[in-house]
Amino acid sequence: MSNSRKIALISLLSLTNLAMVLPAAADPARDAILATLAEEAKKADPAFGGFSAERGQAFFAAKHTGGKPDTPSCTSCHSQDPTAAGETRAGKRIEPMAVSKNPSRFNKVEEVNKWFGRNCNSVLGRECTAVEKGDFITYLSAK
Ligand code: HEC
Repeated sequence: MSNSRKIALISLLSLTNLAMVLPAAADPARDAILATLAEEAKKADPAFGGFSAERGQAFFAAKHTGGKPDTPSCTSCHSQDPTAAGETRAGKRIEPMAVSKNPSRFNKVEEVNKWFGRNCNSVLGRECTAVEKGDFITYLSAK
């Protein structure tokens, strides 16, 4: 292997390593969305103690009742593995939900509100609470 090829390979490898150790990129717009949700959560329950990735994971994977029978879970469309692509009922691809795979997730207020509105109603037959939304985003931001 030529020296310049070796150097190219080494820089590629170190970049890959860097990407693996760095947490998902911070995003001020996503932080602002989470801050608004935290305010809402505190208003609903003064004892609110912060969002939880663990609770978010359980919520994402759970089978819920109250919504449409063919979509009992967020995973019905978003796939069991949030780093993988999902699929709508009609077979249209949905890009991964994990921020590590898809850094533009959860950073546009209108988008976030629109889809929480639609999907929570499909899955749960009601709006998601601020805690459920904040946990969900916290989980997928760490994924
Ligand atoms: C019927 C299929 C379906 C189900 C079930 C579903 N989603 Fe979605 N979701 C979508 C589609 C389609 C999009 C929009 C395409 C995209 O953002 O890639 C989306 C996008 C979203 C977004 C916007 C993400 C962003 O980039 O801002 C959120 C938030 C979301 N879904 C939350 C949920 C939650 C929470 C559940 C479970 C309670 C759920 N979804 C279940 C189909 C679904």
